[in-house]
Amino acid sequence: MNSTLKSFIEGMPKAELHLHIEGSFEPELMFAIAQRNQVKTKFDSVEAVKEAYQFNNLQDFLDIYYEGARVLLTEQDFFDLTWAYVERIHAQNVIHTEIFFDPQTHTDRGVDFGVVISGISRALAQAEQKYGITSRIIMCFLRHLDESEAEKTLAQALAYKDRIYGVGLDSSELGHPPSKFKNVFAKAIEEGFVTVAHAGEEGPAEYIWEALDLLHISRLDHGNRSKDDPKLMARLAAEKMALTVCPLSNLKLCVVDDLKAHPLRFLMENNLKVTINSDDPAYFGGYMNENYIAITEALELNRTELKQLAQNAFEACFVDEGRKREMLAQLEAYFAENAF
Ligand code: ADE
Ligand code: ZN
Repeated sequence: MNSTLKSFIEGMPKAELHLHIEGSFEPELMFAIAQRNQVKTKFDSVEAVKEAYQFNNLQDFLDIYYEGARVLLTEQDFFDLTWAYVERIHAQNVIHTEIFFDPQTHTDRGVDFGVVISGISRALAQAEQKYGITSRIIMCFLRHLDESEAEKTLAQALAYKDRIYGVGLDSSELGHPPSKFKNVFAKAIEEGFVTVAHAGEEGPAEYIWEALDLLHISRLDHGNRSKDDPKLMARLAAEKMALTVCPLSNLKLCVVDDLKAHPLRFLMENNLKVTINSDDPAYFGGYMNENYIAITEALELNRTELKQLAQNAFEACFVDEGRKREMLAQLEAYFAENAF
């Protein structure tokens, strides 16, 4: 890629809408926190951790990701994890981020819900004070567990409603369709949460229909497999449903064999509101800029298409109209100055 296009991407104001905070856990920090907390892991060096990052599918990755999260115990651990992510995105001109966390990964190990949410939200408050980065927090239910477990998690979350904007659905997709969680999502909506869900990452287009019709999602995480179903694409386009696509994740988890075969352009050509995100950047080889750069190189995206992708994210984020307008104006100004 020519260096001016690379600089254009790096300097562009961006919003991230699909980021698992536990997936931003860099091996060096993981190791330091493991030592601080005297937690033993499978890995005896930072290099051993990095060598384990070879995945054939989503489950291969999840096994390692849950292993890494075991070292997180204290409020300070969750603060440090989140702050490290904030520093990374600040350096990449990300001005708004919406962060997933998996409460069950921690509460099932005896870590208090309040410890997790306090550490994450303290770092995000500091991000706004220090850098002007705005944010939202979305808690995900682990879909490989039962719906009754998700219901217990929802009940625990009610005490922290002021800090949790939405609920989502993640973990092992195949065999765990959205329909499994329709009751708990209905309760979450009654409680005033916005809903999103991972669907169509490894699972079929049918799971996306279910996420729309049964979970009443406001945004679709991944959604790659909508490419298989023209009727579904037409519906998503008509509803202006945003898709949080994660190119390097798709490559590393073998959802695509090659980024050149990634459906992102096809989805855009079908008028879908596609956004670019990093998913689990510490595991997949890159944060926002690396994702933008890799997909731009593979699909030969131009500046107008890049601007559209960034604009889609600002339009699809869960903030008030005033902040949206401010971020969109920032993008317009950047584009006007750097279009050629
Ligand atoms: N949890 C963290 N990353 C995930 C992904 N890409 N898909 C499903 N669950 C996840
Ligand atoms: Zn994800």
